[in-house]
Amino acid sequence: MRPATEPSINARRLLDRLESLGCVGRREDGSICRLALTDEDRQGRDLVAAWMRELGLEVRVDRVGNLFGLRKGLEDLPPVMTGSHIDTVATAGKFDGCLGVLAGLEVAQTLDEAGIRTRRPLVVAAFTDEEGVRFQPDMLGSLVYAGGMDVREALERPGIDGTTFGGELARIGYAGEMEPGALAPSAFVELHIEQGPILDHVGESLGVVADLQGISWQEVTLSGVSNHAGTTPMRLRHDAGYGAARLACFVRDLALSIGDSQVGTVGSLRLEPNLINVVPREAVLTVDLRNTDEGRLCEAEEQLAAFLHELGQQEGLGISTRRLARFEPVTFDAGIVAVIKRTAARLGHPIRTMTSGAGQDAQMLARVCPTAMIFVPSIGGISHNPMERTESSHVELGANVLLHTLLELAGN
Ligand code: HGY
Ligand code: MN
Ligand code: MN
Repeated sequence: MRPATEPSINARRLLDRLESLGCVGRREDGSICRLALTDEDRQGRDLVAAWMRELGLEVRVDRVGNLFGLRKGLEDLPPVMTGSHIDTVATAGKFDGCLGVLAGLEVAQTLDEAGIRTRRPLVVAAFTDEEGVRFQPDMLGSLVYAGGMDVREALERPGIDGTTFGGELARIGYAGEMEPGALAPSAFVELHIEQGPILDHVGESLGVVADLQGISWQEVTLSGVSNHAGTTPMRLRHDAGYGAARLACFVRDLALSIGDSQVGTVGSLRLEPNLINVVPREAVLTVDLRNTDEGRLCEAEEQLAAFLHELGQQEGLGISTRRLARFEPVTFDAGIVAVIKRTAARLGHPIRTMTSGAGQDAQMLARVCPTAMIFVPSIGGISHNPMERTESSHVELGANVLLHTLLELAGN
């Protein structure tokens, strides 16, 4: 068991910060909405930056709004970095992303209170637009940070609401000066809720994430002919609404037929003119396909393309697709995974090796430095939902494993 002298986080303080940040963008129904670069996101950023300053961290913002709090080390070496995101989907809970950022702040404050100055600097990061709901692709800020997209292309990204990433970034005052990636870390560790059912189901409290599945996002537009719902014979219709329904059923059947880790989701669907007595002329929908195996994910994309071609022929519909995101599966660093496992063992806790079903900023950081993640359970596996919950004891445990992992990596 851990010697009493070793530092441990202040769980109450971390839980209080999670609650305070969770109040920003909270709606009547209890859900949280802080879409990237909205006023609510700005308020969340301002709060986190204020906490960073209170802790004596040097606050830096890069050209795509990635926010960093720097804690000096004894030596001017490449820093150890932790963090995640504070932007949310439109129906979020208070843990997704925020736990990783606020646990990083809690680590910094705990080290101060323990009078510990690590050899390497420590950086706490909050990356821009991890969710990709308003501006695709997801993990946009960390993707630019890792050199996967240049700044100009990112700033031009269109929003689902007619805005541009660059316009909104400037409007909320977070268009920083620092070149993304200028802070080149020696290692990155992200604490995150699992957002899936495994840990909760098996009754375990910790996971170390060794890999992360591939993601394919496409927008599909079906173009038909709007016509009178009462007078148009069925055989003469080019019904985009029917095409969309066929496509949604196909995506589900495709995932079930491929099996294993394959998942498929039609998460958004818009019909035009969306009127009770008009055959829809257009359907715009999104298809989210994921698999841990790149070959199987490509197979799913190929089957989707073949289905769309056939659907267009059969129903006389125009078909167009727009790529929104495509990231291959990622394997995290075995060395960092080993440090996390060793730390959990030293703290007296079993830890389960897992795959992340969700996209994460860590998958981008893995392109530039040794990276891995720590998971804590999501009760009932619920996430992207205001019912998202994690036990306080698991929040505390996850943050303590993060603290001691970072201490080992940064040299105490
Ligand atoms: O979509 C995802 O997996 C992440 O929440 N952005
Ligand atoms: Mn997240
Ligand atoms: Mn999320």
